[in-house]
Amino acid sequence: MINVALPKGRLGNRVFDILSNAGYDVKEMHSDTRQLIFTSEENGISYFLVKPSDVSIYVEHGAADVGIVGKDILLEYSPDVYELLDLGIGKCKMCVASLASFKDNPDVPLRVATKFVNITKNYYESINREIEIIKLNGSIELAPILNLSDVIVDIVETGTTLKENNLKVFTEILPISARFIANKSSYNFKTDEINKMADCLRR
Ligand code: PRP
Repeated sequence: MINVALPKGRLGNRVFDILSNAGYDVKEMHSDTRQLIFTSEENGISYFLVKPSDVSIYVEHGAADVGIVGKDILLEYSPDVYELLDLGIGKCKMCVASLASFKDNPDVPLRVATKFVNITKNYYESINREIEIIKLNGSIELAPILNLSDVIVDIVETGTTLKENNLKVFTEILPISARFIANKSSYNFKTDEINKMADCLRR
């Protein structure tokens, strides 16, 4: 039996599609339900639906053998897992964005609002820019509008959220996409089953 942690939400819907195309029976998960565990006895798989940012926690601790997670989460939390495959879905970019009128003043620390504290620190260290981080948990785009921050570091996928809030991208920091990851000891014990799933997803 393999335990698979899958992200809920926007990425989740795409993940269901590729699992379904790869021959895994995930139909029930499309239904409007609050159920969090789905078991397919036939394929010997249990799926757990978790918050996207928690997928790597379940996999790192071995509560799930494998999972599908955005590269943003892997870069932010550096979990001790194997990254087996770039699934090429959930493509987006980690960007610096702000009001179109924003002008950087290099003489003062830049106030940056973000969910991604480590990615932000690493990026600004790499360009030698002093910052003050304001950690938020969502609706990051509000921060420069309300002058809580000068800029934001956040994910941009379609660009709709920025556009509808009159913000623009200043810098693209990193490309992001979904990855298939495995718990290290699960991979040693269930190598064939996990490789089989990776192969199906690759195809
Ligand atoms: C993410 C991200 C942006 C938005 C970008 O938020 O933080 O707000 O998606 O997508 P877009 O470019 O297609 O508009 P999410 O939907 O995860 O919600 P959040 O505000 O709770 O972070």
